[in-house]
Amino acid sequence: MRGTVRPSGLGLQTSSSSKRQTTLPDLLLDIGPGPARAAAVEQALRRSIIGGRLASGTRLPSSRELARDLGCARATVVTAYEQLVAEGYLVAAAGSGTTVASVRTSPPAGEADSSKGFFTDLLPGEPDPSSFPRQAWGVALRKVLHTSPDGLFRYGDRRGLAELRVALAGYLARSRSVVVDPSRVVIFGGFASALSVLATTFHRLGIDRVAVEDPGLPPLRKVITAGGPAIVPIRVDEHGLRVDDLAAARVVLCTPAHQYPMGVVLSATRRVALIDWARDNDGWIIEDDYDGEFRYDRRPVGAMQGLDPERVIYGGTASKSLAPGVGLAWLVLPPRLLEPVLDTLRQRRDTVSSIEQAALADFIATGRLDRHLRSQRQHYRRRRDSLVQLLENHAPWLEVAGVSAGLHATALLHDRDEQAIIERAAARSVALFGIANHSIGAPTRQGLVIGYSRSAAHAFPQALETLAGILNLR
Ligand SMILES: Cc1ncc(COP(=O)(O)O)c(C=O)c1O
Repeated sequence: MRGTVRPSGLGLQTSSSSKRQTTLPDLLLDIGPGPARAAAVEQALRRSIIGGRLASGTRLPSSRELARDLGCARATVVTAYEQLVAEGYLVAAAGSGTTVASVRTSPPAGEADSSKGFFTDLLPGEPDPSSFPRQAWGVALRKVLHTSPDGLFRYGDRRGLAELRVALAGYLARSRSVVVDPSRVVIFGGFASALSVLATTFHRLGIDRVAVEDPGLPPLRKVITAGGPAIVPIRVDEHGLRVDDLAAARVVLCTPAHQYPMGVVLSATRRVALIDWARDNDGWIIEDDYDGEFRYDRRPVGAMQGLDPERVIYGGTASKSLAPGVGLAWLVLPPRLLEPVLDTLRQRRDTVSSIEQAALADFIATGRLDRHLRSQRQHYRRRRDSLVQLLENHAPWLEVAGVSAGLHATALLHDRDEQAIIERAAARSVALFGIANHSIGAPTRQGLVIGYSRSAAHAFPQALETLAGILNLR
């Protein structure tokens, strides 16, 4: 059964495509026959809202009208409307009918298939794009364009712009306790691209295996193997990476400040053990400090790199503190690795925009990055608190693991099935990740990895309601 629904000036008109012609067939509800009609109507409407075809504020036809148009029982449409109101996609107000709520409708990014119109606000990994400090960044860019010498637009130092390396050296020393000289800072278009250069470099140096945390971020594993080395998975427990299991590798990639995705901090004992392992095995530690700026319950734990700058490669990124669209990340290299890394870069000739680099240098030097981070910390701390509260209220069977930090929370499941919840969410066009999505071997824990940073501020309550709707289903 098909029916078209089209927005009109004052509301929505519906018509059965077979019976009536419409000049604006914007919305084709394809619900088919059969008993699951309410679910089909609900699904068709949800997809249209998420996909942006039904804009926020659009008034829907009455349940009676739509039922008549679709040739189904009115109760079918009422059930669908009620479910979508409960999930926050629709708003029902006495006297003004049912309207489309304000839901983020931009195309989904990342791992979810955009063609399927998935709601991706609960995925981990990205800051709220609407909080990007456009104005302040614009001030920095204008200043750069007005005051920089023409040399800014030439091919420059392979390590990146000197002004940015100097600014980052100061910033990382004071905010992350990194022991750093600007000459050993190298700028990249993202941490993944830095890791790719490291993997190639290690492979050229005869290192054929790189240990990674299991669970960890899957795309980074592909980046390593594409560079040559094989992956050695190392389990993570409540103290972080299990250093005793590292024997088989000479390089390890890890997230000591906030393990991704489990959220634990590498314990002091393990940090010392990890440094000892590197010293005893002529090994290297790649410290992925992807969200070290965001700790909410105490001052952030400093970077491990300070314990041994000869053995630890420090990596940072602007992808969480500002936005992935900025496309900037950095490594602080041990002296022995600087030349080998620059050799790899000579072969690749990757370019990172010097204009954006200069803007970030100015952003740091003028204190704007610190100001932005202070406000973002407050913002995300509130969101995390709301998420934890929601989980306590709606899903006391979930246990939030790890520390209060970063842009995601991992909620452990004790007596329920992770995959079943993810599938239930997918059936409602909501993308959710679990620990299994991040694991190499059979996972030892089950849980959901919930991002709380992707939504714009006004859409976050909606994202929480969507999550509550899914968790309340059995
Ligand atoms: C754990 C972790 N490391 C590294 C990165 C990559 O950062 P970039 O965007 O700089 O490549 C991410 C991005 O999501 C991440 O979650």
